[in-house]
Amino acid sequence: SNPSLLILPGDGIGPEVMAEVRRIIDWFGAKRGLEFDVSEDLVGGAAYDAHGKPLSDETMAKAQEADAVLLGAVGGPKYDDLDFSLKPERGLLRLRKEMDLYSNLRPAQCFDALADFSSLKKDIVAGLDIMIVRELTSGVYFGEPRGIFEEGNERVGINTQRYTESEIERAARSAFELAMRRNKKLCSMEKANVMESGILWREVVNRVAQDYPEVELSHMYADNGAMQLVRAPKQFDVIVTDNLFGDILSDCAAMLTGSLGMLPSASLGSPMANGRPKAMYEPVHGSAPDIAGQGKANPIACILSFAMALRYSFDQGAEADRLEAAIEKVLADGVRTGDLLADEGVTPVSTTEMGDAILAALDDS
Ligand code: NAI
Ligand code: MG
Repeated sequence: SNPSLLILPGDGIGPEVMAEVRRIIDWFGAKRGLEFDVSEDLVGGAAYDAHGKPLSDETMAKAQEADAVLLGAVGGPKYDDLDFSLKPERGLLRLRKEMDLYSNLRPAQCFDALADFSSLKKDIVAGLDIMIVRELTSGVYFGEPRGIFEEGNERVGINTQRYTESEIERAARSAFELAMRRNKKLCSMEKANVMESGILWREVVNRVAQDYPEVELSHMYADNGAMQLVRAPKQFDVIVTDNLFGDILSDCAAMLTGSLGMLPSASLGSPMANGRPKAMYEPVHGSAPDIAGQGKANPIACILSFAMALRYSFDQGAEADRLEAAIEKVLADGVRTGDLLADEGVTPVSTTEMGDAILAALDDS
């Protein structure tokens, strides 16, 4: 039977960008014989509106069974005053937590046509193609004890950076696997100079490295890593780091390449019975209420997220390359949604027109 894909468009521009992904998926079915069993369901505010929860148990069960989940975005001002447990973001967090998606892949890739868009000089970013692997389910965002406590005559805010060996090991392993599929070069970032968790992190990464003798491994303190990412990002290929450093470093790397409308992500967990990893793919951007419903959203981040699904869930690297090349061509031809406009002389295309252009480029591929 065909691999299954659960689509959760969500809120705001989520459904708008996902509509373009649906057309791309159909194209791969019709033209490349790559068929998926696609089902669509609700998440976030849309799910709350329908049944009073940001993610129903039925949808959660479907996500657990799907070969991959593709999510648009959640949230919006309409839901700002909801109780914390009902907020749209909780739907997303529940998916990540119950699927145990511990490895977050954030590529920072610079399309040549957009190199002028970077906040850095063009030659520093032209041709950039790196991937940050961020541990997503542990570390200081989750460690206990945490809280704000009384201490003497003042309060103290406490968080705990905590990593078990097995948590480090599985994140490291996923980064090494990725390095093997790419250029066999991995840099691990922590602060082993001042943090116990960093010492353990480095030790475990070195141990896992013995299973991947072909991968060239290096270590870097995360603060230096931040500096190097901005100074000379092309020295890296895959970077692996913990939850906190990964949050910051991946946002930093993201801005090397320009617009939020261009950035995909993957969150992977342990292999399922069929050997595929538990997986959810989503653009980095949110629901963009300021442009929702106006046909202005850039669908590329979401389309690139589907390309990641082709590559990491369905072993279709060549088809993922085809899709990315089509996007590259469209950008080289000067097709731009509003978020990609540097000067006022160019008229932006709509979300659908961007989808049309990518489909036309696929037809020519
Ligand atoms: P946002 O990413 O939605 O928007 C930030 C800015 O970037 C806006 O000006 C928006 O118009 C623009 N932008 C974002 N994606 C774009 C695209 N594809 N094409 C063109 N322009 C794009 O972040 P913001 O405004 O902080 O949050 C809005 C809502 O989204 C909030 O409710 C927030 O909680 C939620 N959110 C959800 C996320 C998710 O579902 N993973 C992630 C981040 C925020
Ligand atoms: Mg962040």
